[in-house]
Amino acid sequence: MKSKIETLKSQLLKALKAAKSDSEVRDLEVRYLGRSGKFNEIMRSLKDLSDEAKRTVGKLANMTKTELEVIVQKKYAELEMAAFDVIADKEWMDVTVPGTKPGVGHRHLISKFIEDLEVVFGRMGFAVAEGPDIETEHYNFDQLNMPADHPSRDMQDTFWVKNLKKMVLRTQTSPVQIRHMEAHEPPIRVISLGKTFRKDSDATHSPMFHQCEGLMVGEDISIANLKAVMTNALQQIFEDPAIKTRFRTSYFPFVEPGLEVDCTCPICHGEGKTADGVPCRLCKQCGWLEIAGAGMVHPKVLENVGYDSKKYTGFAFGMGLDRMVMIKHRVNHLRLLFENDLRFITQF
Ligand code: DAH
Repeated sequence: MKSKIETLKSQLLKALKAAKSDSEVRDLEVRYLGRSGKFNEIMRSLKDLSDEAKRTVGKLANMTKTELEVIVQKKYAELEMAAFDVIADKEWMDVTVPGTKPGVGHRHLISKFIEDLEVVFGRMGFAVAEGPDIETEHYNFDQLNMPADHPSRDMQDTFWVKNLKKMVLRTQTSPVQIRHMEAHEPPIRVISLGKTFRKDSDATHSPMFHQCEGLMVGEDISIANLKAVMTNALQQIFEDPAIKTRFRTSYFPFVEPGLEVDCTCPICHGEGKTADGVPCRLCKQCGWLEIAGAGMVHPKVLENVGYDSKKYTGFAFGMGLDRMVMIKHRVNHLRLLFENDLRFITQF
């Protein structure tokens, strides 16, 4: 009996040593130490022995079984530790490696330009007014002295909004003039900047573009005020105090007289060629650039919003921003402004 216990013990120890997994150990545990395992078999066979032998062999069997139970538990722990080692090896990472920094964004060229203009005109006392991108025909055209049958509407190839009668994507920022005047009394000094839309798309036209509208209404406002404001603004925008402006007569239904504002070319400084004699491509060698439409607010427009056109006069102007941004930052393709290619955008 005693040797049988020793044999069982050494068998189990050997098998445990070779065991590689929890389930193998569990198997051995059941087979040797379980309720119907080999050790309990010995216990059951004790009843055939003498009292003396029952005591000594029983004691030995019990002690050995307890000893082996401890060893089995240790084996479980060993396997668990080994499994942790494998995980630690496989999933190791260096927590001291610096993280990947998210890139810091910045304003788009056009948004930045809009902010700059708000500052430039803000210094001259102009507040910023806003209007909706989807506008009524009433504000976009009618109130601006452009009735439905007026040929000037043809100049602005319009996106009409499907299923919404008399609504357009605004073709100009001029309707903000009307909205602002309806809500305020003179004196008025506002600009309004934002998106405008026309069915126009080629190398130099995008169906969505940006405008800056200006409006000043009060007593005794004249073209001289318009000249001063435009000249000062353009000098600040192009950061060149030598910039000059000139007016040519033009036509817009909401102003009388209507004007075209030109400024000296900021690239060749009005010379038509650069300092080293290269013909200026931007102004096509004429030394001037068309920058804005403008004029004295038409008395009819003033009356449309309930102003006394005998008492008040005013000037208005509207300029396209996209080309100015291109000139200022020497961008040679309009599309670059709208494609949102990060390789372009992050240069500024
Ligand atoms: N709204 C005109 C356009 O988009 C530009 C313009 C011309 C605006 C003369 C004005 C103005 O305020 O007085 O073609």
